[in-house]
Amino acid sequence: MDIITYKNFSWRYSGYKGWTLHNINLSIKKGEFIGIIGKIGSGRTTFCSSMLGLIPHFYPGTMQGEIIINGLNVKKSKIADLSKCVGLAFQSPANQLTGAGTTVEEELAFGLQNLGVPYEEMHKRVDDMLNLIGLEKFRKRSPFELSGGQQQKVAIASVLIMNPNILVLDEPTSQLDPLGTEQVFDLIKKLSKTGITIMISTNNVDYLSRFADRIILFDNKIVKIDTPKKILTDINLLKKHSLTHSNITEVSLRLKKMNLSKKELAIDFAELKKEIEEIMK
Ligand SMILES: Nc1ncnc2c1ncn2[C@@H]1O[C@H](COP(=O)(O)OP(=O)(O)O)[C@@H](O)[C@H]1O
Ligand SMILES: [Mg+2]
Repeated sequence: MDIITYKNFSWRYSGYKGWTLHNINLSIKKGEFIGIIGKIGSGRTTFCSSMLGLIPHFYPGTMQGEIIINGLNVKKSKIADLSKCVGLAFQSPANQLTGAGTTVEEELAFGLQNLGVPYEEMHKRVDDMLNLIGLEKFRKRSPFELSGGQQQKVAIASVLIMNPNILVLDEPTSQLDPLGTEQVFDLIKKLSKTGITIMISTNNVDYLSRFADRIILFDNKIVKIDTPKKILTDINLLKKHSLTHSNITEVSLRLKKMNLSKKELAIDFAELKKEIEEIMK
């Protein structure tokens, strides 16, 4: 069953001439892991905002077409209702963390408290989340004393604790160092096995090539939607959109340039290993 459907969706921010997103058609199945890539200004954040109904309800502008999220017609639904099935984690954890609680566990409990969830259940859900993100030890700490990666994990957990069917992540690691990035992608990998639908905007193709079922390349429209293999080894296509390929694909590319291999470009360790083994024979 499709959990996300876009039909001829276009969006223009008021006061701007062109369409920021033009004629988007899309069907996403429940449980899919979708990577969203594109250069700066290509409309990725706008697309993420449209899944939560921030477009068209919060930002002024003109919308055409239709978006159906988990059976809800976005145009006809309230953001409050959409946010019961869609959770959005922002680029910067500092924007996500409410600061309403003085500790990590209070931060996690915040949304549930607002819903009036009974204490026992709230406690259990907070424990489950702390366990999932591996931060039990830090439950009494202030979130703002944690590392960037840990803060982002708390921010994502504060969204997950509301049990959304769809998790939208807008460049969740763009402000993190390599260790923080790895911590967050470890969490995302765990989540991908839980059946939740994940829509993640990130140009970190090294991780996307490992996790994504499909990738959407945006440039104010959908340029291409296909498997990671098809999109992330198309060097010219990536270059045209100011994107780079993964380190593994780069090694594979160099093997070809050195005339050592004629195989198609590798996208993951397994493929690269095979390629190197054949060269060694
Ligand atoms: N709130 C807004 N009001 C007007 N224009 C916006 C707004 N947000 C983004 N834009 C414009 O829409 C285009 C796409 O932006 P955005 O969706 O943020 O792209 P990306 O996330 O891929 O960098 C840009 O030209 C940007 O300037
Ligand atoms: Mg953006």
